[in-house]
Amino acid sequence: MADSDLKEIERLSELIRKHDHLYYVLDRPEVTDREYDRLMDQLKELESRHPEWVFADSPTQRVGGKASDKFPPVAHRLPMLSLDNTYSEEELAAFHQRVLKGLQADAAEYVAEPKIDGLGVTLIYEDGKFVKGATRGDGKTGEDVTSNLKTIRSIPLRLPLKKSERGVLEVRGEVYMERGAFQRLNEAREQEGEPPFANPRNAAAGSVRLLDPGITASRPLNIWIYSLGHCDLPLPDTLSGVLEKLKSLGFRTNPDTRFCRNLEEMHAAVAYWDKKRRDLGYDVDGLVFKLNDLESQARLGSTAKHPRWAVAYKFEAEQAETRVLNISVQVGRTGAITPVADLEPVFLSGSTVKRATLHNEDEVKRLDARVGDRVLIEKAGEIIPKVIRTLETDENRENPKWKMPTECPECASPLRRLEGEAVWRCENFQCPAQLKERLLHFGSRNAMDIDHLGEAVVAQLIDRCGVEKYSDLYTLELDQLKELDRLAEKSGENLLQAIEKSKQAGLARLIFGLGVRHVGQRVAQVLARTFGSLEKIMNAPAEELEAIDEIGPRIANSITDYLHNPENREEIARLQERGVVTTEENGDAESGPLSGKQIVLTGTLETMTREEAKRKIQEAGGRVMSSVSGKTDFVVAGADPGSKARKAEQQGVRLIGEQDFLALLKKQ
Ligand code: IVH
Repeated sequence: MADSDLKEIERLSELIRKHDHLYYVLDRPEVTDREYDRLMDQLKELESRHPEWVFADSPTQRVGGKASDKFPPVAHRLPMLSLDNTYSEEELAAFHQRVLKGLQADAAEYVAEPKIDGLGVTLIYEDGKFVKGATRGDGKTGEDVTSNLKTIRSIPLRLPLKKSERGVLEVRGEVYMERGAFQRLNEAREQEGEPPFANPRNAAAGSVRLLDPGITASRPLNIWIYSLGHCDLPLPDTLSGVLEKLKSLGFRTNPDTRFCRNLEEMHAAVAYWDKKRRDLGYDVDGLVFKLNDLESQARLGSTAKHPRWAVAYKFEAEQAETRVLNISVQVGRTGAITPVADLEPVFLSGSTVKRATLHNEDEVKRLDARVGDRVLIEKAGEIIPKVIRTLETDENRENPKWKMPTECPECASPLRRLEGEAVWRCENFQCPAQLKERLLHFGSRNAMDIDHLGEAVVAQLIDRCGVEKYSDLYTLELDQLKELDRLAEKSGENLLQAIEKSKQAGLARLIFGLGVRHVGQRVAQVLARTFGSLEKIMNAPAEELEAIDEIGPRIANSITDYLHNPENREEIARLQERGVVTTEENGDAESGPLSGKQIVLTGTLETMTREEAKRKIQEAGGRVMSSVSGKTDFVVAGADPGSKARKAEQQGVRLIGEQDFLALLKKQ
């Protein structure tokens, strides 16, 4: 079975890398932590059986995600480790046995505390003054988010220390958002035409990592402090003592910690919290057990990733039973049709659920969910719950099987499902439902960022002002807007101002806003930086796009298809005529030191991450390509360079080291 194990290792690694990117880079996770942890555990298990296949770039070989380059890096004085996970009573018992064995003791006392589903941070105090706060990042290096953390009122900026208590005190905790506050925030966002956050954790993480602390201050964030980092102050000799001390200094420590003196008490704590967590008002995804005695903690120490003296027990996602009242379909921006179940309202994880997604036709078939069925739904950290299974088992039950409609519910065009795709689509580009979603996307926060362009306004602009395409937004006049419901003169003016302002949004936002299939924010930024103007992208053949690192054939084809379509070209011309900027200031810096150069990166650089290197090259006017070709100007080789360096040598392409690269960047 060895070969299939290798394949499985590769498959799991690839999948985890994808989810890492979604979670850490895009703040847009697609799986629950529990599902993610399971994948990781499977990979670890396979790797432990085949140490020869533990590759240096395996997802198991790092502590966590990577810090982005938006904020200055902070090297953690003590690493911010993550916790090993357990999912069953047996696994918890095995942890306890390991602890007893490691300590050569027959009893151990733990502090059990809810595991908060938020963003881990560290707060550094010098002589009692809050001087720096950072995210966990990859566990070794985090991001300096001091200004944003200062906006959280429960973080003390000054500690009531005694004269003798001088030096550095570093405390660690979890920033989170209460569910009620999260829902209110999302409602406000939706009204303003901004995309809602998927769950409280994303909302908290996104808010801490905003570039404008003024906006962070308006977000309802809070923090629980649960441990120490580096500390120069004299300390009690137990964790519970430390927590007491932190509390007396004004930190918000969880009042609900419990002592467990044996395995029975640990199991009892799990049962207690699994129930209680539903009434907490914030998301708790597990329970953390930590040895209380600090000297024993030190004796057990840590592996590269986890302390041996602590473990997390992960709860199952919360589920509820309800009935399907109707199954309807929703039309998305690209015409994708999503079946959705309307449900008998049921309370789950802090909110009332009325709808759940059924994803696509195959999923409805797999579940065999029908109108009238009792179903089990789950809210796994996301706001959109999903139907897990139907509780009706009679194949011949009266309710007929659900069928995908053959026509679009909005415009009655025939629906089509392309081979190899899971989704059915309405292919009518003029479909009002698609148009509405497209305009909402165009105006959304990460695209053209047009304030006041919410759902209600967009629907009326289409129905009453004849808006059919993006460029129509730029010919709207105040008189037309006065007629609209719920849009007083003042907000009409505000909307027009916001539309006017969006003309300067820049190329990256425009490309993202156009809604080209497979082109997300990241790809839009890469395109804007690499080419600098929409004309240049329009004139680039698919191969040239594909040669760019981060752009594969699927994306490249989608872009060229879009830009070669005469209607889209006309629309772009209209946007230009109406003053929408289609260049990027930073893009293809004509005068930059690497202007026009095609560069390939390989190996690990010492002074910067791969992301930073890419950005620096792009800012200097160069292009980062994924593979070495005749057009490559040079290859930058860091430590442990890969096959790209060999290929460069074979092809006679110039190979330079990190120092030379840094020197090139500096040249004017
Ligand atoms: S104690 C050595 N306690 O979970 C790590 N962590 O997977 C000691 N977390 O990075 C951490 N709630 O961000 C601890 N009550 C709690 C926690 C907690 C959430 C997070 C923390 C950590 C991650 C570990």
